[in-house]
Amino acid sequence: MPVTLPKHFFVRQDESADEDFYLQPRFKTHIDDETIVNLTEYYAEAIPENGAVLDLMSSWISHLPQKQNYRAVSGLGMNSEELEENTVLTERRVQNLNTNPSLPYSNESFDAVLIAVSVQYLIQPLDVFNEIARCLLPDGKCIVSMSHRLFPSKAIYAFHALPPEEKCRLVGSYLNHAGLKNIEFIDRSPIDADPLWIVVGEK
Ligand SMILES: C[S@@+](CC[C@H](N)C(=O)[O-])C[C@H]1O[C@@H](n2cnc3c(N)ncnc32)[C@H](O)[C@@H]1O
Repeated sequence: MPVTLPKHFFVRQDESADEDFYLQPRFKTHIDDETIVNLTEYYAEAIPENGAVLDLMSSWISHLPQKQNYRAVSGLGMNSEELEENTVLTERRVQNLNTNPSLPYSNESFDAVLIAVSVQYLIQPLDVFNEIARCLLPDGKCIVSMSHRLFPSKAIYAFHALPPEEKCRLVGSYLNHAGLKNIEFIDRSPIDADPLWIVVGEK
């Protein structure tokens, strides 16, 4: 379903090349440990055993449950050193989704596509989510997790300006635009740690 989003939502303080910003690896976590535990638990519930997974905007950590088996885990991000350190990945790609939103994967190849605490950096999200829908298997899930931390200079204006429920609604509109169905907003925030808001939809 087509949506029209205000252009100014996608403006960033730093419009310089993302390649420069992500040149140095960051071997750190971007949400609290308890928040990671909750995200991992959600993945254990939502991603089928032996599924093929795509971790978009990936780094050295994918938060996937260790006890679960996956047929393949592809990772796409900006920094090759971070991706090399991510031992759960079976395939790695470096690609700037803001200059090339086309995903280098076949139609209907993944049971789940994940974007963890990174959707705020996409300036052409509708193109990326159309591509996610193309790459998902029928009934496959797109799982977008968000929290309140961000790299301020690289996050789009909307993620500075909107309250949490409106950010979830905005991301829900990305999934809706891509034709995904059964879109849900799930709050898995721990009590005393970074919040965890999840938007999920199915092909
Ligand atoms: C806050 S980190 C989160 C990393 C990881 N998903 C996690 O949960 O720890 C943001 C990630 O978004 C990725 N990223 C940022 N801008 C990107 C772009 N233009 N294209 C592709 N990936 C991008 C970076 O490679 C970085 O790993």
